[in-house]
Amino acid sequence: MEFAPGTVTLVGGGPGDIDLLTLGALKALRAADVVLHDRLAPEAALDECRDDCLLVPVGKVPRGKCTPQEEINRLLVEHARAGRVVVRLKGGDPFVFGRGGEEWQACVEAGVPVQVIPGVTSSVAAPALAGIPVTHRAVSRGFTVVSGHVPPGDPRSDVNWSALARTNTTIVILMGVKYLPEITAELRGAGLPDDVPAAVVEDAASQRMRVVHATLASVADEAVAADVRPPAITVIGPVAAGLSSLHPAQ
Ligand SMILES: C[S@@+](CC[C@H](N)C(=O)[O-])C[C@H]1O[C@@H](n2cnc3c(N)ncnc32)[C@H](O)[C@@H]1O
Repeated sequence: MEFAPGTVTLVGGGPGDIDLLTLGALKALRAADVVLHDRLAPEAALDECRDDCLLVPVGKVPRGKCTPQEEINRLLVEHARAGRVVVRLKGGDPFVFGRGGEEWQACVEAGVPVQVIPGVTSSVAAPALAGIPVTHRAVSRGFTVVSGHVPPGDPRSDVNWSALARTNTTIVILMGVKYLPEITAELRGAGLPDDVPAAVVEDAASQRMRVVHATLASVADEAVAADVRPPAITVIGPVAAGLSSLHPAQ
């Protein structure tokens, strides 16, 4: 990959541990004149930047300080037009709930060359680090990744939770800590059995990582009791019991 002056590279930083950064991401960070970085992007990755690289934090803290997306788009274009090698470092993968698509479109619209380096998404890595495979032969033949940012029934959400309850595949919920009671109630109401295993993985790929194992019926209460906070991922389905409880595939 080339990192030419006047271009933007959208870089997936993985779930938080620098060991989960790709080689491409590392090369991009070392080549960068300016890096606009998120809160969930691995902080240690910034140590790879040159001493004269400009580091611009544009993270969005839940219910806290936030750089509007339009401002991030504007900064990307402005730095690129000034002839800099621009890197946009994001947590996980830029195109999985990362608004990387919007940043790509803003660059294209402004005539700025843009490329992407995909990252290890937390939607698969967080369960994996907790010993939960999102698929497992003869147990789960697929997985669906959804946002729990808004609750079921909210006009801003078009997730069909009732349909999800019937897919017979693993459900992976991002940004779903706050509305876990509403989400699990909706899935139960749609017929997903109470005793289906469920797990919450908090702060995966960090020293603070915690895993709460429960069932669909109990996971929301268990998460509150454990004081689980974002970032966290909820996994629902037989695989959520974890590999040590799953029978070897036949
Ligand atoms: C705005 S989304 C960004 C997802 C990211 N682009 C990705 O591919 O992983 C943020 C959500 O991702 C999940 N997440 C990101 N990093 C995580 C981590 N280290 N541990 C657990 N969940 C994480 C949480 O659900 C969090 O609320």
